[in-house]
Amino acid sequence: MSASLEIPESMRCSVLRAAGELEVQQRAVPRPGPREVLVRVGAVGTCGSDVHYYRHGRIGGFVVREPLVLGHEPSGRIVAVGPGVDAGRIGQRVSLEPGVPCRRCRHCHAGSYNLCPDIVFFATPPVDGAFAEYVTIADDFAHPVPEHVSDDAAALLEPLSVAIWAHHKAGTGIGSRVLVAGAGPIGLLVAQVAAVQGAAEILVSDPDPARRELARTFGATAVLDPAADAAPEVDAFVDCSGAPPAVLAGLRAVRPGGTVVLVGMGADEMTLPVAALQSREIVLTGTFRYANTWPTAVRLAASGAVDLDRLVTGHVDLEHVGDALSPDPAQVKVMVRP
Ligand SMILES: NC(=O)c1ccc[n+]([C@@H]2O[C@H](COP(=O)([O-])OP(=O)(O)OC[C@H]3O[C@@H](n4cnc5c(N)ncnc54)[C@H](O)[C@@H]3O)[C@@H](O)[C@H]2O)c1
Ligand SMILES: [Zn+2]
Ligand SMILES: [Zn+2]
Repeated sequence: MSASLEIPESMRCSVLRAAGELEVQQRAVPRPGPREVLVRVGAVGTCGSDVHYYRHGRIGGFVVREPLVLGHEPSGRIVAVGPGVDAGRIGQRVSLEPGVPCRRCRHCHAGSYNLCPDIVFFATPPVDGAFAEYVTIADDFAHPVPEHVSDDAAALLEPLSVAIWAHHKAGTGIGSRVLVAGAGPIGLLVAQVAAVQGAAEILVSDPDPARRELARTFGATAVLDPAADAAPEVDAFVDCSGAPPAVLAGLRAVRPGGTVVLVGMGADEMTLPVAALQSREIVLTGTFRYANTWPTAVRLAASGAVDLDRLVTGHVDLEHVGDALSPDPAQVKVMVRP
């Protein structure tokens, strides 16, 4: 470490020992390596994947075999820098982009670093996440945020990035008609980003009436109850529910030549209306996280164009991470403050 503020020898972190088993442990504070920074974590969003690891100990092929620190939506303040990093960054408030790619493979070279097979991503076994007092990360993945952006908002640039990336794929622009399925944090952010991009119609569907009402306050021009309302024709459909019936309904609502973006992760496999896709030349794509979105995300949060603080419905400390990871439909985003 070249220079640093006052840093203790050890820190507390929340460790997932096995499915359903979280424990606060004392560990050595990590040391920033070359071109890395050490960050005192301020806030970390909890997310569906943390909930999934906590409940089931795995997501598909990613299995928790060794104790794992969860949390991949962190913000904080740089307290030390490793060799090769400007010591002037100490004290800087940052939002952490939680996946550092190899920088050498063909996907990295092409700029699609979210597809890097060797990406090191927080809270994905065996890589520890950020439900901890301190974390280290590559200096260029610690993005500076202005002082007036709260710790919570700086942390939520991660899900905001998911939404920005979804619109990048959807091709949303001025006057677009967009259908969003699911009014969880991701769907609400997709609705807000649609508004920022000048979409003329932003339809949000969710079976939960409270979530539909919330969507109205986050940019939806109309809300739909999937059990009762059919969607009108749209230019793009962004699924943020992972629910197969929502995907099928959305697909049928898209105009000829329109786009379907699958963000939600639910069923690994489903039956698709191939003839409808073919005869209308629908473009269908998935999304995997994001690439190059933080500069845009920082600007949207800093200007107030997107409201992240209002998504936050609760806070917990490291001792209560388990509460935050127990699904409660009344909560939208619960933040951990390590
Ligand atoms: N592709 C990626 O890189 C990426 C990144 C982050 C999250 N995700 C996924 O995005 C999805 C959304 O995340 P979230 O945190 O907002 O989840 P969430 O569970 O909070 O929200 C999902 C919402 O979908 C609603 N829903 C359920 N069935 C529906 C239906 N038939 N029609 C419309 N809405 C329906 C639920 O009521 C809920 O409000 C999750 O599946 C998550 O795994 C994907
Ligand atoms: Zn997340
Ligand atoms: Zn790579």
